[in-house]
Parts: sequence; structure tokens; C-alpha cells
Amino acid sequence: MKVLVTGGLGFIGSHICLELLSNNFEVLVVDSLINSNSLVIDNINKIVSQNKLNVRKMRIYEADLRDECKLIDIFREHSIKESSIGAVIHCAGLKSVNDSVGSPIDYWANNVGGTIKLIKVMEEFGCNTIIFSSSATIYGVGDGGLINENATINPINPYGQTKAAVERFLKDVFYSGNQKWKIVNLRYFNPTGAHKSGLIGESPKGLANNIFPIISKVALKKKDKLKIFGNNWDTKDGTGVRDYIHVMDLAEGHILALKYLNNVKEEFLNINLGNGIGTSVLELIKTYQESNNVEIPFEFVGRRKGDFGHVVADNSKAISLLKWKPKRSIKDMCKDSWRWNLLYPNGYV
Ligand code: UFG
Repeated sequence: MKVLVTGGLGFIGSHICLELLSNNFEVLVVDSLINSNSLVIDNINKIVSQNKLNVRKMRIYEADLRDECKLIDIFREHSIKESSIGAVIHCAGLKSVNDSVGSPIDYWANNVGGTIKLIKVMEEFGCNTIIFSSSATIYGVGDGGLINENATINPINPYGQTKAAVERFLKDVFYSGNQKWKIVNLRYFNPTGAHKSGLIGESPKGLANNIFPIISKVALKKKDKLKIFGNNWDTKDGTGVRDYIHVMDLAEGHILALKYLNNVKEEFLNINLGNGIGTSVLELIKTYQESNNVEIPFEFVGRRKGDFGHVVADNSKAISLLKWKPKRSIKDMCKDSWRWNLLYPNGYV
């Protein structure tokens, strides 16, 4: 089957492409390269040859999803029946919570506008299967127990608003009945780690806001210390608890979602992808230090605006429906993330 991955050269997209290739899918990538680097292609090819994987070809198209003509060209090029695009994994989008507050127009135009063009072209070419990279950030809760897919949707920043809006849009598309759609919104919790080769990983452009890239910077001595946002949350040690999920477990979840959709006639699903295990900031620092033999100095500062204390997935739907099981521990995430950082201390530059 031919699968088109939007944003396929980004952090999550690149790991999904590798996993698709390993599972014998043919992969097409559409990426604007605004937040990714073409070196990823060489490194995916390196991993493929290092592991002597017998894979099908991967083709890359540099394009912005809002360029409808370009999208039409790509779908037309692959419109011969037996080799047409069977499914889309839609990862492309802007993803910084901080930036989204100052640039809501860019976030809505890219994330929502781009998706509208994509769906329009998919419908034009009769492609009816899409897996959307959604996020746990759409939930308006995060201080109690495990969060299931029926929890209140109430995003508190423009980035989250755009993810929720795309989910809402896809629901309307599904119920339009214009074609038999198969749609899964995968709601990621906190993706981290890297492929075990250390050749692909997270390479944020601009200022890093998420904890893993910041811890790695501190470990590399490019930053003095980690500022821990709050030590008075109602959690095991007072620091924020999150559900970190290894990016390869996440990638495997996409393959299983694709296989699931291949066996149904029409479907609309929301599914959490998280480990279901909460890790506090202090626990994370301890594991990172011990696994990698590095020092992570830290200091406590006030809470970050808009943060929650406890965000952990109820992942039972992914486990029962997709037969998915996260296999990698926090220790694996710390080790793999550090290996990638040692090989690429400045990311792809
Ligand atoms: N934290 C610190 N110091 C830092 C950065 C983070 O103490 O410098 C803490 C946060 O307070 C939080 C935890 O580390 O307790 C994780 O913070 P991240 O910024 O790494 O992740 P968030 O859970 O806040 O948000 C992330 C992504 C969102 C995504 C969400 C899904 O940034 O895009 O997970 O739950 F939607």
C-alpha cells in the first residue's frame, strides 16, 4: 500500500516513515521543510541499509499543504488505480504552544487551512483514509486521574485550539457521507526519545520549550540548569507529572491504526497514545542522570502559565482496539534521546 505522510521529515513523521518502510509500505512524503531538514532522508536511508532492510522506495515532495495545485499534482501522479495513494498520515503542522500565542494567524492558516486543502484533494481523488496527529493538549483537564477519550475538550492555547478544530472538521467530513471515510485522531501525550541508532530524533528549530530538549541541553552543558516549573503541585513529589511516550512506540501505533482501518468499511475514532504511566520532573531527571551518567543541575521556579499538574493517558482503547502495547520505558527514552544528542548536539544544522 502507498501511504502519504505529511510532515514526514519532522521528529514524529520521520520515525513513522521508517516504521512504514520496515512494514513494507511504499512511502510518499510531503514536507515544507520549514521545521525539518532534508538530512533526515539520508539518515533514514542509512538506518535502512545498516539494518539490511529490504524496503520499498520513499519519495519526497517539498510542498506546503496550502498549495492545492501541488497537492493535486502529487495525487494525480499517483492516481493509477493499483498504485494510488491508499492512506494519509497527517503530521504536518506548527507545534509550539508558545509561538502559537503570538502567531494565531499562522497556526490557524497552517494547521487548519492546510488540513482543509488536504481533505478536499483527498476527496477529489477518492482517498478516504486518514490518521491525524492530534494531541492531549486539546483536553481541558489535567489534575486528576487518567484521561480518557471522552474527557472534556477545552484547549487553552491557539495551538491546542487548532488541533481541536481539525478534529471537529474531520468529524463533519466523516458525517457528510460524501464518501465512506476512515478517520482516526491519534491524541499523543508527550512523545520523546529517538530511534535507537541515534540518527533521527528531535531537532527543534528556535527556542526549545519542552522538557526533553532542555534536559539534553543541560546535560551537554549548553545550559546551566533546568528550571523546574513548580514544586507544589498535588503530585507524588510536588513536580509536574506527564505521560512520556517513546517516539518508536508512537510510530508503531500508527502502523496498527492503519492496519485496523484497512479492515473496516468506515470509521471515525479518537484514540489516546500514551504509556498510561505518570513520571514527575524529578523522577525524569533522576532517570536521565543515572541512565546516561550525566549531571542535570536544576532549580525550582514558579509554575508556568497554563500548565497542569498531572496529565496521564487512559490508553486502554489503543490497547484493546489497535492491539497496541507501548514497549519502551522511561530509561529507554532517556538513553535513546541522549544517544541522538551526542551524535547531533546541534540538531540537523
Ligand atoms: N517543565 C519544567 N521545566 C521546563 C520545561 C518543562 O519543569 O523547562 C515541566 C512542565 O512544567 C511539565 C513537564 O515538564 O510538568 C513537561 O513539560 P513539556 O513542556 O515538555 O510538555 P507539556 O506536557 O507541557 O506539553 C507537551 C507539548 C504539547 C502537547 C502536550 C500534550 O508541549 O505540544 O505535551 O500533553 F500538546
